[in-house]
Amino acid sequence: MTKTSRALSVWRTIDTDRFLVGTPHYPEHVDESYWDNDARRMAEAGFNAARLGEFAWHIFEPREGTFDFDLFDRAIAGLGRHGVKTILCTPTATPPRWLTVKHPEILRVDGNGRSMSHGSRQHADTSSPVFRDYSRKITRAMAEHYRGNPNIIGWQTDNELNTSMPESYSPSALKEFQAYLQDTYKTIDKLNFAWGGDFWATAYDDFSQVVFPQDFAPTFPSPGQLQDYHRFLAFSTARFQHDQVEILRATNKDWFVFHNLGGLRDIDFRGQFSTDLDFVGYDIYPLLYDEFFRFGNHAKAQALHLDVCRGFSGNYIVPEQQSGFGAQPGFCTLTPEPGEMRRMAMSSVARGADGVMFFRWRPAHFGAEIYWMGVIDHDDVARHRYDEAKQFATEMTALKDKILGTWVRMDVAIAGSDFDNQEAHKTFPIGLPGPQDDAILLHQYCYDRGIACGFIHPEDDLSKLKVFYVPHWVIWKDSWTARLEAFAENGGTVIIGARTGTRDENNHVIRETAPGPSLSKLTGVRVEDFGRLAAPDAKGLFTTMTRSGGLVIPPDRPAESSRRIRRFTLGNRELDAGYFYENLATEADVEAIGVWSNRYAEGTPVITSRTVGKGRVLYVGTYLTPELTHQLATRTFAHAVVAPLVADLPDGVEVTLRENGERRLLFLQNIKDIPTEVTGVPSGKNLLDGNKAISGALTLAGYGCAIIEMH
Ligand code: GAL
Repeated sequence: MTKTSRALSVWRTIDTDRFLVGTPHYPEHVDESYWDNDARRMAEAGFNAARLGEFAWHIFEPREGTFDFDLFDRAIAGLGRHGVKTILCTPTATPPRWLTVKHPEILRVDGNGRSMSHGSRQHADTSSPVFRDYSRKITRAMAEHYRGNPNIIGWQTDNELNTSMPESYSPSALKEFQAYLQDTYKTIDKLNFAWGGDFWATAYDDFSQVVFPQDFAPTFPSPGQLQDYHRFLAFSTARFQHDQVEILRATNKDWFVFHNLGGLRDIDFRGQFSTDLDFVGYDIYPLLYDEFFRFGNHAKAQALHLDVCRGFSGNYIVPEQQSGFGAQPGFCTLTPEPGEMRRMAMSSVARGADGVMFFRWRPAHFGAEIYWMGVIDHDDVARHRYDEAKQFATEMTALKDKILGTWVRMDVAIAGSDFDNQEAHKTFPIGLPGPQDDAILLHQYCYDRGIACGFIHPEDDLSKLKVFYVPHWVIWKDSWTARLEAFAENGGTVIIGARTGTRDENNHVIRETAPGPSLSKLTGVRVEDFGRLAAPDAKGLFTTMTRSGGLVIPPDRPAESSRRIRRFTLGNRELDAGYFYENLATEADVEAIGVWSNRYAEGTPVITSRTVGKGRVLYVGTYLTPELTHQLATRTFAHAVVAPLVADLPDGVEVTLRENGERRLLFLQNIKDIPTEVTGVPSGKNLLDGNKAISGALTLAGYGCAIIEMH
């Protein structure tokens, strides 16, 4: 695998001639007598890489400054003898006990002042200068030791940074926060202005007086302060990783470097965090979504997460793909059925994975993940998961020249990957869906119908898109308006959601009429009035008010009159609005396609459309609901020449297209356990079925997959 060094873009593919397939492996968890058989079976399965070492700092450095690489040297050489290369990890997710004994000040402290403890993982604070120093030392020692080892092909930094707890409220973190603010604002007056120091006497005389924003202390902190705290967390996470990347790059420029993302909290993916890496990795445990997160449909959730991830910087690898049942003591996943593990891995490839590693080679017999199943079982027997991994590895190795170098098509795109907008929403949520939560409705609409959809940042290349939806990005830049205007001029359809552009970079409400001068000029719309509406599910206005829980949850659905239901007409239909309303004033050349139809604003525009060049710009003065999503799609997609990749896609089948200038690969996966017939498949050959010619109908077995190379 070689490295990727082009600008971050959803269209970026990984510059490699090897489809990375393998497994995270923990030789330190099993007697050495098993190692050779493990390596042999990995090779026989077609694995080309194993990922090692992310939780083994105590083995690499058993005492401060004393390094011992023997165990891993032997494991790496043993894998190498069977042709399995190693990806090493910096082991900084688990600082050893000697370090936390000597420096308890590196432990994270939660909002209630409780210090994290040794005994699990991710307990150290990445903003701590002391911890950073030790992190650099272990990284340097490992890098130097493995500098010329031909079996090491690349590195993963840390492990799922910020997944457990991004925050720390320790005295050391406070000093770092203050230093970050001083560096950003230079003078305390500028900080006081940005945070609104004249509101509730929250001004400071000096940076050394600045405190952390805390929920209920006793009431709410300034949105500006909260925004900067999360900017600081993202800054210190990227800085922590950068320390390591710098050392690895300086040691061997041929190594690739990536990180395996997990929870996606407090990381600015379009900032230094990603530009430091050759590509990102994203760990995928689809069956967590049904039970643990209660999302419902795990395949749809996997698709959403992968599409969001691709929006950061393009194609990625999946360093951890769920293999079997998974559990930690307090939660568990559902269990993939035979055939489903391969299907889930294929779904990852279908949405931009250029490498997949099955978590984990063998399950642990001790520790907090004894029931997190691997490719083989506790009794060392390789059963159906091994067979599926082998089938998948064989298929990917055979098809790598077709798959690599292709990007995932998007006709409909949702504005995504903007750290400031994601955080700005959270600083003042008033129970509204966040940008991504709102956009899920559009993503699901497209997923269900086989329409190519994904996420993209407005600064990315928009030229391949047909529709671009902006889900309530309160912070907006005029340069983005210019890009959307150019997109519309060239025939694109732009849809801008309510509240877009209503705050500036300090998270202050703008002083001009919403949506601000440049967006008003583009849309021909001015927001004359706005207000909150009940959520469509009527759980109450305040149920998502704070991270600490809801304040008011009405026991019954209140009467319609007190809920102030607002309706609007769109074409010949009348729809209920959810969450939010805006009453719009429009320029003469703007068509009001949606109009409020009851209560005091009856007759006032809510959804508008304006012709711009060869395209259109719509403004939607409310939030999406399933019905509104459907109506908007019906009214815009045909006009924008958006069509499903496969017409009449049956329920339970997912479809995407990976393409480049030379080839088009249609990926179909059956997420159900029963055979399903798909009609309307474009003609081509099925690369997963001996290149069998396909045109029109195709039957997918339960959990079956097809990759059609289209004519
Ligand atoms: C991931 C993590 C792994 C393992 C896995 C299963 O989030 O990176 O180390 O814990 O989950 O829980």
